[in-house]
Amino acid sequence: MKARPAARAVRLEPASAAGLSCTSVWAEFLVSLAMLSALLLLVVQTASAAEQPIGFSHTAHIEKASMQCTDCHEGATSRDSAGLPSIRKCMLCHQFIATDLPEVVRLSEYWERKHEVPWERIYGFAKTAAVQFRHAPHARAEIACSQCHGDVASMTVAVKAVTHTMGSCIQCHRENSATDDCLACHY
Ligand code: HEC
Ligand code: HEC
Ligand code: HEC
Ligand code: HEC
Ligand code: HEC
Repeated sequence: MKARPAARAVRLEPASAAGLSCTSVWAEFLVSLAMLSALLLLVVQTASAAEQPIGFSHTAHIEKASMQCTDCHEGATSRDSAGLPSIRKCMLCHQFIATDLPEVVRLSEYWERKHEVPWERIYGFAKTAAVQFRHAPHARAEIACSQCHGDVASMTVAVKAVTHTMGSCIQCHRENSATDDCLACHY
């Protein structure tokens, strides 16, 4: 939980050299700038479903196949990145199950060509924001997936149900006495 003190001490160096002291007026300015741009993004962004290459349904897998989130997103409780499943995992079942459904036929076509399915990503931050999100500490703090991703289990098409901004991260961190150190969330 108090992980990587050494790594953080190393990473702190360049930032304080750049004047990123949390008490400085400069930091205050950056924070309000970030919150403002986050707000603008929220207004511009339309929370829409991505056009996926295959009609994958979360509901079908939670309800009919009785699967858990971590069966497919293996890192979601233990690593930084939750990860998306490889087509190998899908084919463990779909070589035998529902092979006649049209969307499963399309899945098999990727498999026969030895291609991964090129899923459209839904969550994530612009590279320029230099955010490093980590799943594991949140799972340890027992925050449900649904708090940050909505009720995915009942989605036939996964949509961005929650918009994450610096403001929303920090608000929950303050409520839970979690960190507001710039370098916990930024690299
Ligand atoms: C059978 C495997 C499987 C299971 C089980 C599963 N998922 Fe997924 N999940 C996927 C696949 C494949 C995608 C990519 C396609 C899509 O977005 O619909 C995905 C996408 C997502 C995304 C969007 C990722 C992004 O940013 O692009 C989230 C969030 C997510 N799943 C959360 C969950 C949660 C929460 C659960 C448990 C309730 C769950 N998943 C169970 C396979 C699975
Ligand atoms: C544990 C077994 C299992 C795994 C692993 C699995 N599925 Fe499925 N899948 C099922 C079952 C069961 C159904 C429901 C079949 C039905 O409706 O008769 C299903 C249904 C589907 C459908 C049809 C949905 C519809 O309503 O038309 C698609 C497409 C699909 N799965 C894709 C995937 C993909 C992509 C993966 C890998 C990310 C995956 N499945 C992994 C068991 C599995
Ligand atoms: C505190 C908020 C939070 C919680 C709790 C959370 N996530 Fe995420 N999740 C995020 C954010 C933010 C991203 C985008 C991260 C990025 O791209 O840097 C993300 C990305 C993902 C992705 C896309 C693939 C990836 O690795 O980035 C999947 C899948 C996912 N989460 C599944 C889950 C599952 C399953 C759970 C519950 C076990 C969960 N998440 C819990 C905030 C959260
Ligand atoms: C729903 C509440 C909630 C939300 C939303 C949330 N967090 Fe957290 N976060 C926590 C809690 C609780 C902890 C664990 C604190 C602890 O273990 O002491 C944590 C821990 C972390 C840590 C590990 C800090 C450390 O000291 O190791 C990072 C990094 C982090 N969060 C980044 C983010 C980012 C980036 C976002 C927004 C995309 C975010 N969090 C959104 C509640 C939240
Ligand atoms: C709890 C996590 C968290 C903490 C702590 C945090 N940030 Fe952020 N910050 C984010 C996230 C997430 C974004 C991306 C928001 C988005 O994409 O809408 C962001 C965006 C930004 C941006 C905008 C970058 C861009 O180009 O879009 C700046 C500047 C910034 N943060 C500076 C800071 C400074 C300075 C501090 C310390 C005073 C800080 N942040 C602390 C999570 C955090």
